[in-house]
Amino acid sequence: MHLARFDIARFLATAWQKQPLLIRNPWAQWDNPLEPDELAGLACEAGVESRLIVRGGDGLTLEHGPLAEDRFAGLGADPWTLLVQAVDQHAPQVAALIEPFRFVPDWRIDDVMISYATDGAGVGPHYDQYDVFLIQGLGRRRWRVGPRCDAATPRQPHADLALIADFAATDEWVLEPGDILYVPPGFAHDGVALGDDCMTYSIGFRAPSRAELVEGWGAHVADALEDAVDAQADRYADPDLALQDHPGEITVQALDRLHAMALEALADRAAFARWFGQMNTCAKYPDTDWRPEAPADPQDVAQALAQGLPLRRNPAHRLAFMAEGEAQALLFADGQCHAGVARPLAEALCGGADVLLDPALAGAPGTAALVTALIDQGTLAFDDGSEDDDDDDDWAD
Ligand code: SIN
Ligand code: CO
Repeated sequence: MHLARFDIARFLATAWQKQPLLIRNPWAQWDNPLEPDELAGLACEAGVESRLIVRGGDGLTLEHGPLAEDRFAGLGADPWTLLVQAVDQHAPQVAALIEPFRFVPDWRIDDVMISYATDGAGVGPHYDQYDVFLIQGLGRRRWRVGPRCDAATPRQPHADLALIADFAATDEWVLEPGDILYVPPGFAHDGVALGDDCMTYSIGFRAPSRAELVEGWGAHVADALEDAVDAQADRYADPDLALQDHPGEITVQALDRLHAMALEALADRAAFARWFGQMNTCAKYPDTDWRPEAPADPQDVAQALAQGLPLRRNPAHRLAFMAEGEAQALLFADGQCHAGVARPLAEALCGGADVLLDPALAGAPGTAALVTALIDQGTLAFDDGSEDDDDDDDWAD
């Protein structure tokens, strides 16, 4: 499926991170990629994050999955919504839904969440910290959208859900299958199903907060400093100590030196790049284990590559690269950093779910070694069924 009637440049210039946008069925052809009962099945699986929100007389109640298989039969007439996170990791046809949105870089893309709602159901008026494309998959949903909110926006008293109080929308649209609503971070939105069998696919994004960056990078730097051989000796020193006017003062000179000690350690751009690439590519739900029982043999891998055997990427693994000059790259895969990778190889491996290396690339020095390492860490597998598959039938087909 591709976006046949969608002007990416115009969208980025006028809507992305700026304002909500209704995109009326831009697909060449829209086909709902997942059946409602397949979604319900996923919600019953351990290791799949799911929520059930029921609108009863006392308002919305939240239940976390995995759900018992008979839970759905036990739901009465009250409107309910089932939400399942990261369905792209479990169904290749849902993962394919991300492809048209890769005009936003992979490292900013989070997952595809799918909701199923009965007539009148919804998760209530709220805002998210991240951009989202809400694709109407099946049925119809009325969306009320805007205004932009922040931490000061009044909330409804609710133990589990952060719901906006006195929601007064600035726009209202009814979405039909294939329609897409883009909502930037912070904009209020409230979707209510019009009729049963309402499915919405949320292409969700990620953006690290400054606090997360400082916390994560700071902890990483601190760990590295503590592991250094001279860790104990690497501390404030003042062999030039001069007599102070008052012993109670922390002087400007001392503070300058302390501040520099902290900032110098954090300023290492190359180390930051590696840390960020590794952190960003760590799997959120690492349960899809493709690691082979025995390490792959580099010679077998080289032979398979020479035969042109296609490779598949573990759907739970995230990949990204950073260019190092014209010819080389750092390749990040599932939290691991591979240095000195030929840039065309990094680009091919980060291309999509199926990896087909052209013969020159497949036979290039270093390719077999890297592919072997990626097979061993469970990121890649040859698409011939000979490598260790996960137990997810959809992907093992
Ligand atoms: C839904 O699909 O019901 C909710 C999605 C969202 O508001 O982000
Ligand atoms: Co939302």
